[in-house]
Amino acid sequence: MKGVFITFEGCDGSGKTTQISLLERYLRDMGCNVLVTREPGGDTVAENIRSVLLASESQVSPRTELLLFLAARAQVVDFVIRPALERGNIVLCDRFADSTVTYQGYAREQDLDWVRRLNAYATNGLTPDKTLLFDIDPVDGLSRQTDRNRMESETLDFHQRVRKGYLAESRLFPERFHVIDASANVQLVHQAVLEALKDVIKPENWKTGNCAIHP
Ligand code: TYD
Repeated sequence: MKGVFITFEGCDGSGKTTQISLLERYLRDMGCNVLVTREPGGDTVAENIRSVLLASESQVSPRTELLLFLAARAQVVDFVIRPALERGNIVLCDRFADSTVTYQGYAREQDLDWVRRLNAYATNGLTPDKTLLFDIDPVDGLSRQTDRNRMESETLDFHQRVRKGYLAESRLFPERFHVIDASANVQLVHQAVLEALKDVIKPENWKTGNCAIHP
């Protein structure tokens, strides 16, 4: 595929959404074709699944939760992410398959092998070129959240398992993951993001209209 696929992961309140906006503006200013999307969500069907999943009053079984996150993923992969990558866009995605491994696998304690296999089915084998992990102590992350959805309302222990899961995954896939200290100020974190992506998105290619190339 011609494009570049970058995913943003981290505990709730890690500031990744702010960083995606900063990176999007930076890349657009350089003349790149950027597509920003999020999970769960990204198209009408997946946004509807998101409402079901995150409504704070819903009682959702762990298996239902897992399958709904995966259903939303299959939808956004087929109708949003793959087409954009085929067009040669840089795709910035707020959460992706690693969220399911950490939240439903490590934290919700669903069988990790199952989660990985189902993820492979939902993504049809699509893997990010680079995953930026915004690491923060959940105590600090959650203190930044005011209005909490169903997942954010989970116990501190749950969110600690999410963080541990992310760090374990980053050690399993060191080529793909880049861990960023998300407790630093917004501008410092933005610089760390650009540094992490310098091999994936090469400025020398931007001038020729070929915005992005694979590492
Ligand atoms: P959201 O408000 O988008 O959180 P954030 O801004 O931190 O990304 O809510 C999405 C929630 O869903 C978040 O708590 C993480 C959780 N989630 C899963 O549990 N599994 C998944 O596969 C995904 C994509 C998200």
